[in-house]
Amino acid sequence: PQNVGILAMEVYFPPTCIQQDILEDFDGVSKGKYTIGLGQDCMAFCSEVEDVISMGLTAVTSLLEKYEVDPRQIGRLEVGSETVIDKSKSIKTFLMNVFQDCGNTDIEGVDSTNACYGGTAALFNCVNWVESNSWDGRYGMVVCTDSAVYAEGPARPTGGAAAIAMLIGTDAPIAFESKFRASHMSHVYDFYKPDLASEYPVVDGKLSQTCYLMTLDSCYNGYCHKYEKLEGKQFSIADADYFVFHSPYNKLVQKSFARLVFSDVVRNASSVEESAKEKLGQFTSLTGDESYQNRDLEKASQQAAKQYYDKKVQPGTLINKQVGNMYTASIYAAFASLIHNKYSSLVNVLFDIFTVQRDPDGNRVVMFSYGSGLSATMFSLHLSEGKPPFSLSNIAKVMNVDEKLKTRTELAPEKFVQLMKVMEHRYGGKDFVTSKDTSLLAPGTYYLTEVDSKYRRFYAKK
Ligand code: ACO
Repeated sequence: PQNVGILAMEVYFPPTCIQQDILEDFDGVSKGKYTIGLGQDCMAFCSEVEDVISMGLTAVTSLLEKYEVDPRQIGRLEVGSETVIDKSKSIKTFLMNVFQDCGNTDIEGVDSTNACYGGTAALFNCVNWVESNSWDGRYGMVVCTDSAVYAEGPARPTGGAAAIAMLIGTDAPIAFESKFRASHMSHVYDFYKPDLASEYPVVDGKLSQTCYLMTLDSCYNGYCHKYEKLEGKQFSIADADYFVFHSPYNKLVQKSFARLVFSDVVRNASSVEESAKEKLGQFTSLTGDESYQNRDLEKASQQAAKQYYDKKVQPGTLINKQVGNMYTASIYAAFASLIHNKYSSLVNVLFDIFTVQRDPDGNRVVMFSYGSGLSATMFSLHLSEGKPPFSLSNIAKVMNVDEKLKTRTELAPEKFVQLMKVMEHRYGGKDFVTSKDTSLLAPGTYYLTEVDSKYRRFYAKK
């Protein structure tokens, strides 16, 4: 099979959100801590009628409808999530409702879990399936769905919620460069969920930041090494048009990209400009450990990276700044932001109508997926326009990101805190019905109606 990858995408996030500057005031932290310090604008969260299953159902049905894909054409369905609703029954089995109704129960795949990395594991499983001998010619589907909620305290503003569905197949406009891939996996307690009675993680914030950056370096070195071995030339940030990162909050993305620029200087990559070498050369003798703690290096590398950041990273940041951390969906929401930014203009729509084939202005996207605990992979995708309905412009049109962001409802911080309390109480609970107030949900959205005395969950579609 040729050009295996992502044919179609749909993004769903809850219509309920809170502005970060309002949360700053409410939490009594210094002005700018969340908006500038973390780089976040707004945070979405599930109200009591939504959860990872309802969001997954919404994303899956919307994708099938909008791209006119018959549910019988799906042969594998993989879910990535770290939001535990059941310790045995996978979220995938709930999503089977959509497929069994039309007689399709022959669908492989279950859930993958490791913090924010589960979605990438699910995606690799689907891509590998299509590339393998067991592929039966049908599409694969990947669903990343998470509700990121933290206990009160410094991590709370880094929450968020979303589900993303992706259709996997051949001749994809978003194709995997499967040979260039490097992982770093190890045993660390930076963020984990040992308390099964609580939805909240135990998190060592500072350690998780350092782990993220160390792992990024390790994956980038591995990626460069593989590229150089196969292509016979050095890799540097000049060889990719875009960089997309798992985004717990935007500031970490800025620091991550700056780290890659520093890494190019350390490796003395030929494409590095003299000005960057001058700014960062003095830091190349630092040991790895020292370099993660050095504030001067952090500042200087962010300065040196700024011009490249605006071109190569910034286009893939909108949804993440507006919705927050979506755990497994986070990196794919960043990728969706890039497609939205580059392909939703009217010109692209016209090109599609007249089926004008053209090369995208940039076509290699390097992706960095990180999940605490930890597991991480750097891999790359190749963009080509594709043919409708599986074209980049149509994907941008279907995702309709601007409209979805615009039609959200901002809730007051008191209401947000009150909702968090209700959800804390309900987590792992049984025997309750929800308020069924769906006034804020768009038509077609699934919602939770009841959890009965045997913990069975029931959903309805608005
Ligand atoms: N104006 C501008 N900037 C400010 C202000 C202000 N008034 N106040 C603080 N800042 C800056 C700080 O200088 C800091 O920036 P820096 O990182 O460049 O130094 C930033 O805002 C954050 O402030 P801190 O004091 O470092 O924040 P705190 O330690 O309270 O919390 C943290 C931040 C650790 C990220 C916390 O939100 C957290 O634990 N989040 C969850 C863990 C996480 O997301 N880890 C990332 C990888 S793992 C994963 O994806 C889950």
